[in-house]
Amino acid sequence: MDAALALLSAGEVVAIPTETVYGLAGDATNGEAVARIFEAKGRPRFNPLIAHVADMAMAERIGVFDPLSRNLAEKFWPGPLTLVVPLRPEAGIHPLVTAGLDTIALRMPMGFGGKLIARLGRPLAAPSANTSGKISSTSGEAVASDLGGRIPLVVDGGSTPVGLESTIVKVEDGKVRMLRPGGVAASEIEALAGAPLLRGATAGIEAPGMLASHYAPGAALRLNVGKVGAGEALLGFGPERAEGWQQARAFLNLSETGDLREAATNLFAHLQALDRSGAASIAVEPVPSDELGEAINDRLARAAAPRDNLHV
Ligand code: TXA
Ligand code: MG
Repeated sequence: MDAALALLSAGEVVAIPTETVYGLAGDATNGEAVARIFEAKGRPRFNPLIAHVADMAMAERIGVFDPLSRNLAEKFWPGPLTLVVPLRPEAGIHPLVTAGLDTIALRMPMGFGGKLIARLGRPLAAPSANTSGKISSTSGEAVASDLGGRIPLVVDGGSTPVGLESTIVKVEDGKVRMLRPGGVAASEIEALAGAPLLRGATAGIEAPGMLASHYAPGAALRLNVGKVGAGEALLGFGPERAEGWQQARAFLNLSETGDLREAATNLFAHLQALDRSGAASIAVEPVPSDELGEAINDRLARAAAPRDNLHV
């Protein structure tokens, strides 16, 4: 904690655990720190970042909360929900964080991240701690092996409990639009909002998580597989196995019992491990798309997409 505080105060970046995935954090009010985040990730600069806050007072100093956004924050914070709200121009957020937009994505993380921000007294800009376009890191080890040489500190807090990035929503005229599925299931938000969510992005920015190919492992991915091909690795789900699974080059199960929460937690680490098996292709058994399955299938589809748009 003290080492992280010293570096962040000096405008450096630090990888920190959150309940979703590891974040590459920098002081959101310091342009140099934010530039270092983009540099370390090799991230296209037009993509805005999430600003992480310690409490509701900090959030309200940065963004303008309508009643529904405030209800969502009260229900799901701290936790894996990001709210896009109008930015207060006087908040001191460096424009690199929002890529010049007049809105800002805000999230209050659980655990270490929240405590760190409270002690720093300033919001932290933090995208997922991975090279742009690669799988998000869910352990300190994964961060170190991806970004280790490029950042001064990785705070190792073990495996992240949720394992998927936050759900991103934006309230528009009293309706909630889901910009990215994630750690809070759509049904939980609908229960609070009392209406079905709007889906898909509004005109304007393309979120990087919305590029077709994102979260890409080195190997090709084949989804909804009923039969494993020669030399393929297999990513399983549930108690039933795809045909030919005994011949798989490597096998890992997202959840033996078919539990979507457990599967979300394991997704990125299992993809990375199967990638390291050296297989040219990873076959993935079907995963249901209800509840957290929506976010899991979203990440799998992006990981399976053709890679030629990676350099957009
Ligand atoms: O769980 C998470 O959300 C993790 C942890 C570290 O908090 N962070 C994360 O950040 O996934 P990142 O930068 O990989 O994804 C943030 C997403 C991007 O798709 C970005 O385009 C979108 O948030 N975003 C940021 N500001 C936005 C805005 N003003 N309007 C719409 N989307 C925005
Ligand atoms: Mg990311």
